[in-house]
Amino acid sequence: MTKRRKLKFGALVHGVGGNIASWRHPDVQVDASISLAFYKEQAKKAEEGKLDLIFIADGLYINEKSIPHFLNRFEPLTILSALAAVTTHIGLIGTVSTSYSEPYTVARQFASLDHISQGRAGWNVVTTPLESTALNYSKTIEQHPDHATRYRIASEYLEVVKGLWDSWEDDAFIRDKESGVFFDLSKLHALHHQGEFFSVQGPLNIARSKQGHPIIFQAGSSEAGIDLAAKEADAIFTGQSSLQDAKEFYQKVKNRTEAFGRNPDEIFILPSLSPIIGETEEEAERKYQEVANLVSIENALHYLGRYFDHHDFSQYELDAPFPELGDIGKNSFQSTTDRIKQEAKEEHLTLRQVVLREATPRSPFTGTPEKVADVVQEWFEEKGADGFTIVSVVPNALHDFVDYVIPILQKRGIYRTEYESDTLRGNLGLPFPINRYTKETVNP
Ligand SMILES: Cc1cc2nc3c(=O)[nH]c(=O)nc-3n(C[C@H](O)[C@H](O)[C@H](O)COP(=O)(O)O)c2cc1C
Repeated sequence: MTKRRKLKFGALVHGVGGNIASWRHPDVQVDASISLAFYKEQAKKAEEGKLDLIFIADGLYINEKSIPHFLNRFEPLTILSALAAVTTHIGLIGTVSTSYSEPYTVARQFASLDHISQGRAGWNVVTTPLESTALNYSKTIEQHPDHATRYRIASEYLEVVKGLWDSWEDDAFIRDKESGVFFDLSKLHALHHQGEFFSVQGPLNIARSKQGHPIIFQAGSSEAGIDLAAKEADAIFTGQSSLQDAKEFYQKVKNRTEAFGRNPDEIFILPSLSPIIGETEEEAERKYQEVANLVSIENALHYLGRYFDHHDFSQYELDAPFPELGDIGKNSFQSTTDRIKQEAKEEHLTLRQVVLREATPRSPFTGTPEKVADVVQEWFEEKGADGFTIVSVVPNALHDFVDYVIPILQKRGIYRTEYESDTLRGNLGLPFPINRYTKETVNP
């Protein structure tokens, strides 16, 4: 008997919010981005709702035009380690860039989080879209790798990290005080990786955790991003705003995963879900307007500019057609900038229309709890999503979702009422990755 497919949920915990002006809302804690108390409270609320995971996004370059949350926030693995100590079941996912780090260090860091949390760690693999990041890492802007190279680096990087994670077979540590044998030498494996970008001998100085390997997430939606996800990832964060687009993306990722010889049911597609929930439709609309009205055009132009590597949009006429940008944005958040250019062209939008749409997007998940649950169920059943990542664009969005929408989804039998496991892998229902060296012994 095949098990009934169930929704997966994550929550992006994003301090004062991903909206440029959300911090000004009376109900927002102004120092939330660096408040351990806030992160703890959000993690516990997410766990109360039996969510699969919380997710901490990250970037490595700011300037004075960056949104408030980016200006002053926690480093993901540090905050996740603290949250591991105050939670018991929820997955802990953090972003780390493969363009500005070393695989040995990062393999260790995630393996450590995986032990601290007893099998609940996950890594959102990003390639870093902003070229000025190079200036923070002893490089020149010209040395920032181009989009295609960034994904080639990421692919080799992941091979190395996964290899390092298998350094110790699961029963390698004997720790026998009597005989003085700490470990079995035949169960320790050095990687000896020599590739185009990395040369890593190994072994790693930490063993595998209860879930074998941390879970791999990926968040790029360009062709190269989809390839990387289809080859290596367990889940993909994405951002389609209509069911039609979500279904196309879903099918594409599943097909590509199958083309790489993998089971398409073993990659979860998790679009963002920004819930704006009210007792009535009018209340939900008022909540949207409260936040949208805080956004100035100047701020919105900065927000849009960041996707295009901090391009200056204030130089263009606001009510003229969206400017012709050529390749600007291609080397940055490529899938997002391609989409914005395409929509502007197809719908004949002005710069003002584009900038408002991007900075104060209208969420399809707006309305009463029943209505939001209906949209969630529709996207899930129509194969636009395997689950969602809740992104709070209005204050208390996570609380509203957990308190009012989750119980409806549970009643409908499409969402869990209890965790199935105490590891992230177990809750996602993903198979345990057998150590590559153990495999060789079992099947010579
Ligand atoms: C839900 C979601 C979360 C993301 N989180 C991050 C992040 O934490 N850090 C980052 O640099 N990029 C993040 N991104 C952006 C992508 O990882 C990627 O860098 C960007 O989309 C450009 O890659 P692409 O051209 O393959 O789409 C996120 C995207 C989405 C949809």
